[in-house]
Amino acid sequence: MTQHSSVFKTVGLVGTGAMGRGIAQIAAQAGSTVMLFDTQPEAVGKAIAAISQQWDKLVEKGRLTPEQAAAQKSRLVECPAAQSQQALAACDFIIEAIVERLDVKRSLFADLEKIVRADCVLATNTSSLSVTAIAAGMQHPERFAGYHFFNPVPLMKVVEVISGLKTSQGVCDQLTAFAKQMGHTPVTAQDTPGFIVNHAGRGYGTEALRIVQESVTDFVTIDRILRDQVGFKLGPFELMDLTALDVSHPVMESVYRQYFDEPRYRPSVITAQRLAGGVVGKKVGAGFYDYKDGAAVIAPEASIPVLPLGSEMPPVWVSTRAARRSELLQLLKDLGAKIETGQSPSMEALTIVAPLGFDVTTVAVVERLDPARTVGIDMLIDDKETKRRVLATNPMTRPDMRDAAHALFASDGKAVSVIRDSAGFVTQRVIATIINIATDMCQQSVCSPQDLELAVTLGLGYPRGPLAMGNHYGPTNVLEVLFNMQTVYGDPRYRPSPWLRRRGALGLSLLQGE
Ligand SMILES: NC(=O)c1ccc[n+]([C@@H]2O[C@H](COP(=O)([O-])OP(=O)(O)OC[C@H]3O[C@@H](n4cnc5c(N)ncnc54)[C@H](O)[C@@H]3O)[C@@H](O)[C@H]2O)c1
Repeated sequence: MTQHSSVFKTVGLVGTGAMGRGIAQIAAQAGSTVMLFDTQPEAVGKAIAAISQQWDKLVEKGRLTPEQAAAQKSRLVECPAAQSQQALAACDFIIEAIVERLDVKRSLFADLEKIVRADCVLATNTSSLSVTAIAAGMQHPERFAGYHFFNPVPLMKVVEVISGLKTSQGVCDQLTAFAKQMGHTPVTAQDTPGFIVNHAGRGYGTEALRIVQESVTDFVTIDRILRDQVGFKLGPFELMDLTALDVSHPVMESVYRQYFDEPRYRPSVITAQRLAGGVVGKKVGAGFYDYKDGAAVIAPEASIPVLPLGSEMPPVWVSTRAARRSELLQLLKDLGAKIETGQSPSMEALTIVAPLGFDVTTVAVVERLDPARTVGIDMLIDDKETKRRVLATNPMTRPDMRDAAHALFASDGKAVSVIRDSAGFVTQRVIATIINIATDMCQQSVCSPQDLELAVTLGLGYPRGPLAMGNHYGPTNVLEVLFNMQTVYGDPRYRPSPWLRRRGALGLSLLQGE
């Protein structure tokens, strides 16, 4: 790519910390001359050295020629701190990645507006402040937008182009074109708390934390379940340990407060307390997991119970209202269970229920089953699609019935987790919460359904975009989970978004616009 074809020939980069240097790197790679400025005297030199080192490594690996590396290096220009921002006067585009403070960012843009040309585009890399609020004091807010990158910038190939209330479409178009030139995927967001990625990401951790807070199971088990059943690369607690709670808890609180205490985003006292105690994650060697030589210490799984000598596996009866009932019966047959086919279970039978969104207790009571012999299994997902089965007891389930169910469902070698009663087990709760938040983002026109999917898969690395996830598991199933969870918990957190309700009712894809 030549310098002449660049959307912005000269880019100004203010704040050359973790984010600034990443943005400078990809802009220089795209052919722009990048003027770097930082108030800390040493910062720019360090940033240029770090970027140059990245390129030297690429030369060593044969992914960049020495000539290309030299040309890129020549496009990084140091603006000495002593010169103030004056050196940036000739820039076509200036982006800031300075400290996350509204007053400091506002004062920076007030200073920049005094020196730049009328057609210079200005942008902020803020992750939590309102773009409109930063622009409030500007003379020309129409030339200003959010340009939100992710860490590490060269590897996280998505950028949110955020339109403030007064941002012109032309500016968004330029930023979109420049993102593509830098090899990134641009997505367009309205100026709303968390934009796309940090908004869509609110479901995963917060619902997992509620499950732990409810003493349904421990965090290790939740991580195992979500990795094995849904295919998340990292469980929510592994993820929080990696991001560190000093970063992720404030994001949870900020999005929640900015939406005036919307229950769907409600953070947890668990992370608040851990943050206060400094138990923030992998970087300090202690988070939800302990770390030894950089690796998490993971407690072994509960062993599979062995039935007492002389006792037989009880016959099994499956609720007539079980989700995926025929698959469940086939599975039990394959596992060699003695299946009862009567209207109701015999006095000896292990009774299996498979609710969507209800807890085992509610189902046992409503269906007039003996709770002492009733165990639930999460059948939202096709058993063939998952690497783990999840069973739930209720407060009256007899230990022998629990153990029999555990041994039976583990008898073909598939992993089994047994948890306490929970409306929606683990997977249903977490998946439904993610999908509900995502569909409501579409309802609020935060972004297009397509951009939501792109932003989440690229920015959060989920196995599917949340809308595709909803389509895959069935919008009506997800709705049923949410309605029933709302009944059990009485919490408006679980009220389904109108986007989901309408598409579920009409049998439409969750990607369908209006
Ligand atoms: N770190 C992330 O994961 C991440 C992701 C997306 C967005 N952001 C946002 O990017 C911005 C920067 O974050 P970071 O992690 O790179 O921070 P950082 O602390 O690594 O770097 C900030 C740099 O800005 C400089 N600086 C501070 N005030 C300045 C001013 N008034 N003028 C010029 N330079 C100034 C500092 O000296 C420092 O070098 C923040 O707004 C943050 O919210 C961060």
